Amino acid sequence: MPQTMVQSATQLFTDNWKIYQKIINQNYMLHREFAAKGNTAFKKLKSLEPFNVLDLGCGDAQLISEQLSVFEIDSYIGYDLSATALALASKNLESNNIAYELCQGAMEMLLDTTTSSFDIIHSSFAIHHLGDSGKKTFLKKCFQKLSPGGLFIIIDVFRDAVSLETYKRDYISRIRSHWNYLPDNEKDMIIDHILRYDYPADISIFKLWAKEAGFTVTTATVKDSFHKMLLLSKAAN
Ligand SMILES: C[S@@+](CC[C@H](N)C(=O)[O-])C[C@H]1O[C@@H](n2cnc3c(N)ncnc32)[C@H](O)[C@@H]1O
Repeated sequence: MPQTMVQSATQLFTDNWKIYQKIINQNYMLHREFAAKGNTAFKKLKSLEPFNVLDLGCGDAQLISEQLSVFEIDSYIGYDLSATALALASKNLESNNIAYELCQGAMEMLLDTTTSSFDIIHSSFAIHHLGDSGKKTFLKKCFQKLSPGGLFIIIDVFRDAVSLETYKRDYISRIRSHWNYLPDNEKDMIIDHILRYDYPADISIFKLWAKEAGFTVTTATVKDSFHKMLLLSKAAN
């Protein structure tokens, strides 16, 4: 991604983190359901505690820090482009007593800078900003960084056998008709961001890329045509 595009892709969140918080509070993107399913998945990994966690596009880390607070955490590392988001993430992680390290930059590049491996890799609503070849490479890098027996949780928007144009038309229509807690000017800002910077993958193709990278892929059951959760596991040694 060119640098100017990287800056713009994150601007909605940097300048208007409160809009995203309203979206979460209203559960428009199903954060609540995904957090519950994430908790169940984390419990199944109990034998790996204390966890080493990598969060890609961590944003303010609000939900993940609450989720992780009931587990033993060896380290939490969060990558994000936005300094504003990372400042909020520091506060949220500290208030949940989680030892953390935060790095500002493109997650797809920062992955190359760590020599650690992780029990849990988590990425929520960030991968859709990458282009298709970027997503494929990203999956391969994440497989390398995941410990044997570990889990990569992906929460994101995906297309379900429709074109990008149809996806965007339908998603925007849903915002206009259902996201009624937001005033029109805030809806317009979100729609502008979607039109310019969102590239959700076709879910079937994305799952094939994940399998090619080496993962075993499970799809969490959530009845929604846009927001999905994938559980990508790596066989134990
Ligand atoms: C919709 S927010 C999600 C935040 C958080 N993960 C959550 O689910 O609440 C997307 C976040 O991804 C970040 N982001 C987008 N593209 C990124 C990239 N290439 N590298 C790192 N962060 C990125 C944005 O700055 C933003 O904080």
